Amino acid sequence: MRVVVTGGAGFIGSHLVDALLATGHEVMVIDDLSTGDLGNVNPAAAFRQLDIRIPAAGEVIRRWRPEVVSHHAAQMSVSRSVREPLLDADINLHGSLLLLEAARDVGARFVFASSGGALYGHADVLPTDEDQPPRPVSPYAVSKLAFEHYLGCYGALHALSHAVLRYANVYGPRQNPHGEAGVVALFCKALMDGRPVVINGDGCYTRDYVYVDDVVRANLLALNSHATGPFNVGTGRQVDVNQLFQLVSTEFGAAVEPTRGPPRPGDVRASALNCERIAKALGWRPRITLEAGLRRTAEWVREHASAAAGGVDRS
Ligand SMILES: NC(=O)c1ccc[n+]([C@@H]2O[C@H](COP(=O)([O-])OP(=O)(O)OC[C@H]3O[C@@H](n4cnc5c(N)ncnc54)[C@H](O)[C@@H]3O)[C@@H](O)[C@H]2O)c1
Repeated sequence: MRVVVTGGAGFIGSHLVDALLATGHEVMVIDDLSTGDLGNVNPAAAFRQLDIRIPAAGEVIRRWRPEVVSHHAAQMSVSRSVREPLLDADINLHGSLLLLEAARDVGARFVFASSGGALYGHADVLPTDEDQPPRPVSPYAVSKLAFEHYLGCYGALHALSHAVLRYANVYGPRQNPHGEAGVVALFCKALMDGRPVVINGDGCYTRDYVYVDDVVRANLLALNSHATGPFNVGTGRQVDVNQLFQLVSTEFGAAVEPTRGPPRPGDVRASALNCERIAKALGWRPRITLEAGLRRTAEWVREHASAAAGGVDRS
């Protein structure tokens, strides 16, 4: 199959590109490299450095005529969305709509990386299933939810085939440690560099951490099916940030105390996803435990640090 992966130079998108190529698909990456890295892009994929907000990105889809558009490019910082809601909407809604129009023109299936962690907000039921009402508490979550509605609307109006995957907190190799979303990457990098780790608020807020390989497998199943979802993609396990810090510290053999920073606006207190729907519809269940995933991630961070010191690039 021909698959366009937007955001394919980023963390999740680049792992998906590798898996698609390994399973015999043809891949085109569209990414503006704003947070992604060209070094993440598999050389066997075609690559166009484009902002999804400009018409040229849609034109690439119209000319290349993929069977699937897997949409991972996004403004994905919750706190930036609070500071700059117009920018968030411009990328996550306007940019996404331009891609959706192009997908409609060529009859491509559209698979969308949404956010369960953000979208359910302060949920009444934990782990939260897809029938619970979304309660977005950040502009980022609003833009993700609004685009889900556009997909539903295009499905009804134009019979556009689509699937929504609502990720929990994804972690693993290649996650950007300079952003703010990847707490595992931030902890790993700080502990690796011997820098102090800052925990925002009391650290008792919980998240559901899912390993990137499991997320990639959910994507492969979704793009090869006709299922629509929305589908949660997580583990159902709640882990608080203090516990997570202890687990990551153990991987690095570090015995340091974190410093405490102010709580971040827009953050939800507790989050975990019920993933029974995707288990029933697509046979997907997470396979990698948090402990095993953190071990793999820490190994990669160590190898990457020594490879960078020795001048070796892609891994
Ligand atoms: N990482 C998580 O825990 C998580 C959780 C829920 C949802 N998601 C969603 O998954 C997707 C991928 O996230 P990630 O963690 O890999 O982030 P990432 O920042 O590593 O990847 C995003 C990619 O999109 C590109 N991009 C950003 N704006 C763009 C634009 N205007 N035009 C073209 N390219 C652009 C970036 O350069 C980057 O390569 C996002 O849509 C994000 O909202 C991620």
